[in-house]
Amino acid sequence: MKTSRRAIQRLSKFLFRELDNNFFGYSFYKLKVFLHVQSRMMFEKDFRLHKEDKPVLLILYCYFIQDQNAGAIIGLDINKGLLISGPVGCGKTTLMNLMPKSTRHKINYEMIPTRNIVNNFNEVGFEVLEKYKDTKDYCFDDLGLEPTGCHNTKDCNVMEEILLSRYDLFKTKNVKTHITTNLNPEELEARYGSQFISRLGEMFNLVSFASSTNDKR
Ligand SMILES: Nc1ncnc2c1ncn2[C@@H]1O[C@H](COP(=O)(O)OP(=O)(O)OP(=O)(O)O)[C@@H](O)[C@H]1O
Ligand SMILES: [Mg+2]
Repeated sequence: MKTSRRAIQRLSKFLFRELDNNFFGYSFYKLKVFLHVQSRMMFEKDFRLHKEDKPVLLILYCYFIQDQNAGAIIGLDINKGLLISGPVGCGKTTLMNLMPKSTRHKINYEMIPTRNIVNNFNEVGFEVLEKYKDTKDYCFDDLGLEPTGCHNTKDCNVMEEILLSRYDLFKTKNVKTHITTNLNPEELEARYGSQFISRLGEMFNLVSFASSTNDKR
């Protein structure tokens, strides 16, 4: 997705002019206070609004408020999921945990680390793949960090299988999937194949933190 400075400036002007009936009425200040309080409650940690993260936060804000018109300015499609990429520790998982609670448009998904999915597969087997064929929304956290899938000596690229079924669900039932990852598109292709990559743009809004973003750990 285009996160050029100009696009962000236009989006930001648009958002803050349009005070509508959203809970936070596009107040960045209120969002900041909310994230701070929520992060204290959930993680006992103080959330800091880093200047360098503002473009990503603005895009996510717009997505979680489900503002189609504002989204159009930067090519954000509220009917797709989010694929958030960025360097280690930049705050991807934190934001995907906090943001759904920031608006009254209920975007509900289950956050699940891909490591847990594959570890579960390795223990239980192929029936684990079935679980993700339901119509619930998921956020697959830390895609790329999971081990290789292997059950009873049978290898399986678990996340590739799951992501391909999630694509079918997206196409037929508009079921959403979100992802956080450290991998770039080339690395994703090497790991999950060209079929997944060719579906990527259809299924996800690609949102990236700058590669220079600092590790917040
Ligand atoms: N804006 C923030 N202010 C303060 N602490 C933050 C902020 N964002 C993230 N953190 C903290 O930094 C650490 C790393 O954040 P997080 O796990 O969200 O990063 P990540 O991008 O998902 O990392 P990884 O690539 O390793 O999965 C966590 O301890 C988190 O609480
Ligand atoms: Mg993470």
